[in-house]
Amino acid sequence: MTSEHDTIEQQGDAATATTSTSANRRQPFPQGFLDTISTGWAERPETLPAPRAQAPYAAKRRDALSAAFPGKRLVIPAGSLKQRSNDTDYPFRAHSAFAHLTGWAADAEPDSLLVFEPTTDGHDVTLYFRERADRTTSEFYSDATIGEFWIGPRPALAGVAADLGLATAHLDDFAAGEHDLVVDEDAELTQVVSELRLIKDEYEIAEMRRAVEITANGFDDIVRDLPRAVAHPRGERIVEGVFHQRARSDGNWEGYDTIAASGPHACYLHWTRNDGAVLPGDLILIDAGAEADSLYTADITRTLPVSGTFSDVQRRIYDTVVEAADAAFGAAKIGVPFREVHAAAMDVIARRTAEWGLLPVTAEEALDADKGGQHRRYMVHGTSHHLGIDVHDCAQARREMYYDGLIQEGMVFTIEPGLYFQIDDVTVPEEYRGIGVRIEDDILITADGPVNLSAGIPRTSAEIEAWIATVQGAAS
Ligand code: GLY
Ligand code: MN
Repeated sequence: MTSEHDTIEQQGDAATATTSTSANRRQPFPQGFLDTISTGWAERPETLPAPRAQAPYAAKRRDALSAAFPGKRLVIPAGSLKQRSNDTDYPFRAHSAFAHLTGWAADAEPDSLLVFEPTTDGHDVTLYFRERADRTTSEFYSDATIGEFWIGPRPALAGVAADLGLATAHLDDFAAGEHDLVVDEDAELTQVVSELRLIKDEYEIAEMRRAVEITANGFDDIVRDLPRAVAHPRGERIVEGVFHQRARSDGNWEGYDTIAASGPHACYLHWTRNDGAVLPGDLILIDAGAEADSLYTADITRTLPVSGTFSDVQRRIYDTVVEAADAAFGAAKIGVPFREVHAAAMDVIARRTAEWGLLPVTAEEALDADKGGQHRRYMVHGTSHHLGIDVHDCAQARREMYYDGLIQEGMVFTIEPGLYFQIDDVTVPEEYRGIGVRIEDDILITADGPVNLSAGIPRTSAEIEAWIATVQGAAS
């Protein structure tokens, strides 16, 4: 919050602010202010927007949810602001199920509720939200959390109804019912709204492509700015910041915290501290995804040689991860169990690590489902997860629909094998220690086979070296 905010902090008569603790610095509003503040404002034009592109797709999703819960009253909350610290909240991000079923995404209002009211032949659906305050009330100037003086224009019921193609009502008109099923409280509803997202419609696929495009541009920016990262003692933060600038300027946000992991940090799978140096001769692993305004996100990892070329051992490890990713891609076929994608990648990881003499057993023994797994020391994570409005999409789907489910047209998931040799892992020769490589692409399953949505981002070791040379050459 800025100091100006402090100087005009409100009296609090209509305050619904979640974070205001500022009684010790409230300024009384003098009578002259109160007498004049509600007047002198031009009429707002109320031209209603045409329905947004996602509206008909969200309507179909609501129909599917309605059909799954006949006679039940369903409540899908958008979620509320969460306090970060005194007088500051985390940026609001609507619940994924809410965004999916309304199409209201980056511009959604906190505390909104999508309510399915049962009827004789389905449900009447209404979106409840806190409509903007009329300027005759004190809320608009006095409430730092929702007042338009503070946070800018807020939507009106009619405008949102037209925009989303949904009936709308004021949040104050909502009354909770004893038998309501609420997402994140009712297990079955939570599971169904998650499974509804396993197959993406054409709107979602277009948005995923857009998220990948923004992300690709962010990776180009990172490559161009690598010399700046090298020159800074906290180069990883430079990398994170460069990607953030692209994600914010071209989309909504990052879909998850960027991992900018240089040198041995690359072996920490979710290294988001990003406070290390980026040193020549090391590899830097960057796992980042831009989230479009629709909230669909990419999830892409590239591992780059900071100096522009791989050493022999770095290349050997890198090329093996490419081999594992290619094997996984080859397994990603309609009708094949999702888990087979992981199995294909792990087969390569086991065989190569055995060949390099890193395993205390043969590859076949390591691949034994009960007694093996020695190779997993060097890749403990899974190869794939569903991707969409959440980076780990469909997370509440049943196992038989997810890991043990069959690959279907319209699914979007990652393929992201890696090899990680911790700096202090004495099971590997010294030259391997401190090297971590992951390559992650976003895959769309079509009737004609898998499509790598992120294929445009250089991927093989030769492509990566040419990319760095080209981008940095053009920049210098
Ligand atoms: N991008 C991080 C992850 O998939 O876990
Ligand atoms: Mn991922």
